[in-house]
Amino acid sequence: MSRKVIIDTDPGIDDAMAILFAFETEQLDVLGLTTTFGNVSVDLATHNALILAELAGADVPVAKGVSAPLEITPRPHADFVHGRDGFGNINWPAPKGKALDVSAAQFIIDTVKAHPGEVTLIALGPLGNLATALEMAPEIANLVDEVILMGGTAIEYGNVSPVAEANIINDPHAADKVFTANWQVTMIGLDVTHQVLLEIDLLERIKASRPKYGDFLCQAAKYYIKFYKDRLDVDGCFFHDASTIAYAMEPDIFGIELGAIRVACEGLAIGQTIFAPEGMTFSEPHWDCVPITQVCMEVDSKRMLNLFEETLS
Ligand code: BDR
Ligand code: CA
Repeated sequence: MSRKVIIDTDPGIDDAMAILFAFETEQLDVLGLTTTFGNVSVDLATHNALILAELAGADVPVAKGVSAPLEITPRPHADFVHGRDGFGNINWPAPKGKALDVSAAQFIIDTVKAHPGEVTLIALGPLGNLATALEMAPEIANLVDEVILMGGTAIEYGNVSPVAEANIINDPHAADKVFTANWQVTMIGLDVTHQVLLEIDLLERIKASRPKYGDFLCQAAKYYIKFYKDRLDVDGCFFHDASTIAYAMEPDIFGIELGAIRVACEGLAIGQTIFAPEGMTFSEPHWDCVPITQVCMEVDSKRMLNLFEETLS
């Protein structure tokens, strides 16, 4: 039986890889896409989510979500990473479809309640939609199967500040609500995504067998790969968001450590995901009764990239 998922996203080049990966595997049943600001504005994220659904030939609802962080001033969108269009400035044709009239948070609530215990939320951007859904209907925490999110970092350096990862620093208050709610969260952060470099050759091979996806992915990834070349002098791009899909399909690709996560919401460390290993006790009250998150710390990079290539080829 396939696993029911909602993908919450800010597409985004690596979001696009994740979404096409999810649509292609029979192991997942994508019930809908919900969108958020992040890499681009929420309007552009919604436009891009519709493009991806149409590219995949998937008739799934798209619901537009939050346009700004819960409390902090919005940070600039990441044009320098994903391009002004979110897809590396490739000028892809506009989608024909339209988003639903309900908000992302309402769509999440309604869908989770329609399938109690069965829906996994896969979050690929800042966490405002999940936090809003929790605020509107706290009871959904007990009805969600799992929250698998790309974001944060336990011991690896951050990618926006020395300690903060982009999705978390974009809305730290929302992230802290998600990590402290009473549901099972799995965090796929930079500890693992910085171990997986996707090279253009893999996408060229997908293009050879599946021109439809391959052409889009190759065009979009060129911009993303150039960003990493200029910034870190590596030949490829990190496989951030698509790692969540691999986890949903084959969790044993990853090695996990258990612990509580809290998010620093102000000051020098804003956006830091602070990891308290399970079993350690602290006198500071911030750590009382915080649920245990599964934090991915190891990954079989080759196996994950093979899974992506096989699924899309
Ligand atoms: C995360 O930030 C965004 O730029 C990517 O889409 C990914 O979700 C990586 O830090
Ligand atoms: Ca993303």
